[in-house]
Amino acid sequence: MKKIKFRASSHYVPKKIVTNDDLAQIMDTSDEWIQKRTGIKQRHISQGENTADLSVKVALDLLAKSGLSAKEIDLIIVATMSPEAYTPSTAALVQGEIGASKAFAFDISAACSGYIYALEMASAYLASGQAKRVMVLGGEVLSKIIDWQDRATAVLFGDGAGGAILEIDSDGTSAFLASDLATYGQDGQSLTAGITPALTSFPANGEHKFSSFAMDGHAVYSFATREVPKSIQRACDKAQLAVSDIDYFVLHQANARIIKSVAKKMQLPIEKFPINIDRYGNTSAASEPILFDELVQAGKIKPGSLVALSGFGGGLTVGTQIIRY
Ligand code: ACO
Repeated sequence: MKKIKFRASSHYVPKKIVTNDDLAQIMDTSDEWIQKRTGIKQRHISQGENTADLSVKVALDLLAKSGLSAKEIDLIIVATMSPEAYTPSTAALVQGEIGASKAFAFDISAACSGYIYALEMASAYLASGQAKRVMVLGGEVLSKIIDWQDRATAVLFGDGAGGAILEIDSDGTSAFLASDLATYGQDGQSLTAGITPALTSFPANGEHKFSSFAMDGHAVYSFATREVPKSIQRACDKAQLAVSDIDYFVLHQANARIIKSVAKKMQLPIEKFPINIDRYGNTSAASEPILFDELVQAGKIKPGSLVALSGFGGGLTVGTQIIRY
């Protein structure tokens, strides 16, 4: 089995900040409700930058930080539920824009678990020797698919991107200790976006319709608080670690209450569960690489740190990666 290491990590968010008070100007909500129910104070909203633009910013920063040239990347994976188009993929747009001419590139769709699933793919390509260096990105411009008339979902989300370069490290120990991925397709209707109905007659009459974001908040809340602790436990068991061995639990930032509930259920100190949802809202596949990079920049995640990254969301999906940084 090949050894894999994190070579660099990065994140980027659009400049424009929209506070809860700003939202209260355009819909029937309040800063008090949003903070109490979710922990969110503000989010970054894109103006003119699309998903590939945010992802390219992260990709270029990853190259600068790692000292690598774009041609040294073998594979680019972008996890996103808000791509620019059905085709070309966001990953292909990034590949073309940064000039990674030796890389093949594709997107994956697993909503808020997307980055965990993308890490799984990256580690599999690296472990099998099919790639030596992989750029893994989570990028979202959710503001373009949100129904801004629906206060129950509009207040929750934000835009951003983050990611890492992973590479084969012949001398070191592997960063990827174990993982757990699970999908519950029978519950998929709890969280949907971009549903594209089939034609009911031919020739087509009128415009194609795409649905915006819709969610059964209660169903997803109970799914997350039930399944995330189980997924973390299964992944720790596979890694032959106790959950108490983990230094940081980098959980998908969907709701601060979900994170606190998971910490409580697992009888672990909340200090091991960093939270940045107050500043970014839920950025879906971008939330974990953004938080991961902030912890690396702050020197909290350092070489040797044991980190459990755990995501959950549309699909419904859940997934955990146990990493030794
Ligand atoms: N402002 C003010 N009031 C509101 C708002 C708002 N923005 N939204 C809803 N309300 C009202 C409701 O209408 C309801 O009023 P009522 O009691 O008069 O009927 C009341 O507030 C309570 O609403 P609930 O939906 O019961 O609030 P809850 O405490 O469940 O919080 C929330 C809702 C935040 C959505 C929560 O259910 C949640 O976090 N769910 C999980 C979401 C999630 O984790 N998504 C992750 C996946 S995302 C992905 O994959 C992309």
